Amino acid sequence: MKVLANDGISQSGVDALKAAGFEVITTKVAQEQLETYINENNIDALLVRSATKVRKELIDACPSLKLIGRGGVGMDNIDVQYAKDKGLSVINTPASSSASVAELVFAHLYGGVRFLYDANRNMPLEGEAKFGALKKAYAKGVELRGKTLGVIGFGRIGQATAKVALGAGMKVIYSDPYMEKAEVKVDFFDGQEVSFKFESKSKDEVLQEADFITLHVPAQKEYVIGKPELEKMKDGAALVNAARGGVVDEIALIDALDSGKLAFAALDVFESEPKPELKILMHSKISLSPHIGAATNEAQDRIGIELADQISSILKG
Ligand SMILES: NC(=O)c1ccc[n+]([C@@H]2O[C@H](COP(=O)([O-])OP(=O)(O)OC[C@H]3O[C@@H](n4cnc5c(N)ncnc54)[C@H](O)[C@@H]3O)[C@@H](O)[C@H]2O)c1
Repeated sequence: MKVLANDGISQSGVDALKAAGFEVITTKVAQEQLETYINENNIDALLVRSATKVRKELIDACPSLKLIGRGGVGMDNIDVQYAKDKGLSVINTPASSSASVAELVFAHLYGGVRFLYDANRNMPLEGEAKFGALKKAYAKGVELRGKTLGVIGFGRIGQATAKVALGAGMKVIYSDPYMEKAEVKVDFFDGQEVSFKFESKSKDEVLQEADFITLHVPAQKEYVIGKPELEKMKDGAALVNAARGGVVDEIALIDALDSGKLAFAALDVFESEPKPELKILMHSKISLSPHIGAATNEAQDRIGIELADQISSILKG
């Protein structure tokens, strides 16, 4: 059986699929040539990340396809229900990247409280001429230890972020209307484990009590953080969005940063992705990354292996 991994797959995934007897093709076929390629090569399984689109027309035109796999979480680029109705299996790897996204949140948070996002912009320009002035400008850092992290959306990534926060000595509170209670196990390098029990608070309570808010909700119809929510946050708080562009109202966010209500914000995802607004990109109080939450070697390895396991059990099981 043939697997086309059109947006790439880790070597560990290729190895696991080959060991299970699959032929793995990692050629990147252009979207408009995909139909012809799949049909000419009798592809059984098409694996994608976020780049390749798997729409109704492609599904209809490629009768050899039995399975569509998404390495990662969001499946906006796949007509999932249509494919399932046509009898195809549609799989993803929801758990593989949680720890990587959580660590990126903390990269932004630790960078934020010590102004690294701004220092890294200004040191190359003025570090030589104005070292003393920059040292003074970035002197009032704060520690994360002892502060409160408010997590909105306490699923896989929200809980993985809580683990890092607990390890860093933070208090964690969360709000998730669909997850009343949760237990988070923090495991250490030597096998020790500590379990923490949590209960969901209202969104308002989290907004009012947290020093830092991080969002881990799925795409929504309405903003999760807009002007009214920003107003409820503590003065000098900070906001991280590594969930989805569109869950934060970016215009309201800029206002909150400009007025000094928020100390800083960190964005890995953007309302107008893949062309974020210049006002966001140029803002001196925003720590930026180009949607790389899941982009670690470890997550890609786990994604490849998780896909290979699922494909083997579905197509060969
Ligand atoms: N930055 C990245 O590269 C990256 C990588 C992977 C996933 N993500 C995104 O992270 C988000 C979370 O992923 P996950 O795997 O943790 O999903 P998940 O389904 O495990 O958790 C989402 C949680 O959000 C809760 N929720 C839904 N609506 C809510 C609301 N309005 N308020 C509060 N909670 C709400 C759900 O009950 C659920 O517990 C998704 O949007 C996903 O697309 C980003």
